[in-house]
Amino acid sequence: MNRIALLITLLILAILTSCTPTPKKIVAVSQCSVDEWRTQMNNEMLREAFFHNDMEVEIHSTSDNSQEQIDVIEQFISRKVDLIVVAPNEAEPLRPVIEKAFDAGIPVVLIDRKINSNKYTAFIGGDNVEVGRLAGNYVAELLKGKGRIVEIEGLYGSSSSQERHKGFHEVIDKYDDINIVSSFCADWQEDKAEAIMDSIGEAIGDVDLVFAYNDRMAIGAKKSALKRGGNNAQIPYIGVDALLDERIGISRIADGTLNASFLYQTGGDKAIFIADCILSGKPYERDNIFQTSVVNKSNVHLMNIHAGHIDEQNGKIEFLNSKLDDFFKDYESQRIVLVTFIIITVLVCILLFVSITAYNAKTRLNDQLEMQKEVLEIQKNELSEQKEKLERQRDQLEAERDKLIEAQGCEEHGEEDKTTIEDETNFFMDRLNKVFDENIDNSELTVEMIGAEMGLSRVQLYRRTKASCGLSPNEALRARRLNKAYKMLRETDKSISEVAYEVGFSSPSYFAKCYKDYFGHNPTESLRK
Ligand code: FRU
Repeated sequence: MNRIALLITLLILAILTSCTPTPKKIVAVSQCSVDEWRTQMNNEMLREAFFHNDMEVEIHSTSDNSQEQIDVIEQFISRKVDLIVVAPNEAEPLRPVIEKAFDAGIPVVLIDRKINSNKYTAFIGGDNVEVGRLAGNYVAELLKGKGRIVEIEGLYGSSSSQERHKGFHEVIDKYDDINIVSSFCADWQEDKAEAIMDSIGEAIGDVDLVFAYNDRMAIGAKKSALKRGGNNAQIPYIGVDALLDERIGISRIADGTLNASFLYQTGGDKAIFIADCILSGKPYERDNIFQTSVVNKSNVHLMNIHAGHIDEQNGKIEFLNSKLDDFFKDYESQRIVLVTFIIITVLVCILLFVSITAYNAKTRLNDQLEMQKEVLEIQKNELSEQKEKLERQRDQLEAERDKLIEAQGCEEHGEEDKTTIEDETNFFMDRLNKVFDENIDNSELTVEMIGAEMGLSRVQLYRRTKASCGLSPNEALRARRLNKAYKMLRETDKSISEVAYEVGFSSPSYFAKCYKDYFGHNPTESLRK
């Protein structure tokens, strides 16, 4: 039975493990901000992950807070995730924890922003120096080399802001007649740019152009100017990102809010693609730099057409994704039903097998017992036949011996009779009957044993018994046994066999025969009615 239990356990385990999906590799993403640009990037990552079955992408976003981001990455390290994708909020504060992950053997893919270290596995992002340069050239051309401008930078500590600053100043500083009347940091935030412009707008007076390091801050500054009215609401506002987004993207160039923006691709799909290459040992480029280009009134229409098309395709992919999700959910529940069904079927089969085997074993055992019973019955009958035979032979033998004594005893009879007196006879018979009664249930009782108890030889016993009652000791004993049996049959509820054994017969059938010979009827007729 133990073997069967082991077999069932192994079988169920085999079914379960064959049905358990292999664990997916965890790609943990740490985003430094929560905004439209990041949302688009995250969507691209999740969409791309769909094409890589063996990985699971987890995205954890923090709100422009370096310490919070460090804590998130610490958790990734202690969880021993398979790969980390990170957009470092600030280059220097994030460097140690990213190096720690890299040193711990976790591949690190930097996206969009960099750290001041070489300890990373791959980088995917735009060329921010080039973005700055292109913007510088565009501004200088638009102003024809002369004008007053406001520069709004991103978070100072972020590599993207530092690089855009470098590229922009590389170009703009060459123009003596272009004056930067105000340059401030709005931490990549629309509200912050708007608020700062609200507070310094009056003081800086009329300007010719505002360049912000992203579109959100440019839109914030424009909002502030629109509130105040005047010249600054009419000048060009230029940003970076050119996102395919209704609120802060290229549609704001189409509607005239922004004069231009510089394409800064999100590339979430590319990041996951590279992550997959790293995890599966495929070749990949370490530094993957996206190209940039200006988007303004002249090409925004074209961009919009493309954007619409891309949106449509994305929608279709998303639709397919959700369809496939439903399909997988259905498949999963069907798989569970199937596995349960297989387990139940296997259990039922095993149970059936065990029951059939047990039933067969029981039938076989019953047959064997039946056979053994029959053999025992036959042996019992043979034994009781032999017993009866022996009892008969013994009685015959005793009778033969009595006859012999009788023959001898006749010669001495005359002398004995003369000395016999009536009292003595009665006394002798009482003693004899007492010995009989004390041993009545003993089928092994012999004349010698009786003689020994009474202190007489077999011959003496024979002679005195014969003289006292006219019977040999054997006949007297038989008569005593049968009379007692008669009494028991009449007065008790005992069966014939019980009575036979109690009066010293070892074979009930022989008892019945002797009984009939003695009383002239069967013991059944003496039974109490
Ligand atoms: C998004 C963002 C973009 C900007 C980039 C620079 O979080 O602020 O607008 O181009 O980060 O890293």
